[in-house]
Amino acid sequence: WKNVPDVGIDAMALSVPRGYVDLAELAEARGVPPSKYLSGLGTRQMTIAAPDEDPVTLAVNAARRLFERSGANPAEIGLCIVGTETAVDHSKPVAAFVHGLLGLPSACRMFEAKHACFGGTAGLLSAVDWIASGSARGRAALVVCTDIARYPLRSAGEPTQGAGAVALLVREKPRLLSLEVGQTGTFARDVHDFWRPLHHKEALVDGHYSVQCYLDALEGAYDAWRRLDGAADEPLVRTCYHVPYGKMARKAHRHRRMLEGATEQAADASFGVEVEPSLDLPSRIGNVYTGSLYLALASLLNAQAREIAGKRIGLFSYGSGCCAEFFAGRTTPEAAALVDRLDIDGPLRDSQRMTVAEYERLRAEDAAADRRTAPESARPRGKANEWDRAVYLGVD
Ligand code: HMG
Repeated sequence: WKNVPDVGIDAMALSVPRGYVDLAELAEARGVPPSKYLSGLGTRQMTIAAPDEDPVTLAVNAARRLFERSGANPAEIGLCIVGTETAVDHSKPVAAFVHGLLGLPSACRMFEAKHACFGGTAGLLSAVDWIASGSARGRAALVVCTDIARYPLRSAGEPTQGAGAVALLVREKPRLLSLEVGQTGTFARDVHDFWRPLHHKEALVDGHYSVQCYLDALEGAYDAWRRLDGAADEPLVRTCYHVPYGKMARKAHRHRRMLEGATEQAADASFGVEVEPSLDLPSRIGNVYTGSLYLALASLLNAQAREIAGKRIGLFSYGSGCCAEFFAGRTTPEAAALVDRLDIDGPLRDSQRMTVAEYERLRAEDAAADRRTAPESARPRGKANEWDRAVYLGVD
């Protein structure tokens, strides 16, 4: 793999909705000790999308910012992939809206990738292979991960919501992170840990089981990666994990380190250095599903691009259902200067705190609008199909 082209992430940009809810305030409203959300789950805030903010506007804002800040030209794009599990249409891809609103070239392959939170990684790795294979002929790829994570009000998943998009520019001789092309450890298994039946806006989840599925998938993917020729020759100085909530990354890191033979204490001791710098943005934004791993990477680069210049880092992506991939890359010497220009966390500076009452009103109005506009055929089905009820909707 060392002889394949140098391909990876050249630049990145975020976009988030204007509003966020403070999780200490949500805990109080739900009658839960704030320490459960803050340290038990490792979350501080969750961003909330308003009616005029959806996965399309989030994706387009992130991609616009990517081009403005990185100096890249939309005319260079020959592949546009949007990873999302909260798309706005069952047929027309979000990639088409992004393509149109950004004025990308017509000689451009575009599509949407869906596999729960894995869709962004599916897009990124496809883009890397497209470039490494020679099909790109000098062009670059735009990969945008965009999602709104929603669970029912007062459910266990509620404090792990979030919304946002991460846009990635992928090309040869990248300025941020060179990826080890073709060197990935993959794990797949058909599990029923998290799902969202057609016409449901809120995800259904078997929460504790989903945590176990994540850890099993990490074990499978990491084991497959470690067996690859040369993969384990040089240590990873940092690892970014998929972050549905901060504590999950802590559990993942402990599990991975213990697979290598570390004690629980040693595994936890390395967490502060190897993982914590990647958790600032996820704890301020929440779970952004497909973009979650890349939000962790953005957080790490934002905090430590200088310190880890030229160093090797690990990346772990998990998508419920499930598919997972472990892979690695090396930060470039020029990453720090570019990170300053990209102003990665800039969009958070405009965030406005909304009260729990405002957030609940927004959700109630959204549900009322859906009831008014959804045709009969688009309403969640009741008794029509017993298999749906029992297996999909999770009711007796
Ligand atoms: P829960 O049942 O409310 O929480 O839901 P819990 O009782 O398990 O407590 C959570 C932690 O807080 C525990 O720590 C408690 O000890 C601690 P742990 O044992 O895990 O280390 N705790 C406290 N700490 C301090 N002070 C206190 C206190 N009380 C308790 N007073 C759950 C937790 C994650 C299940 C829930 O939030 C949920 O269902 N979330 C959504 C699902 C999810 O995020 N799953 C993660 C893995 S699957 C995944 O990542 C894929 C996903 O992103 C979707 C996709 O792929 O598209 C979700």
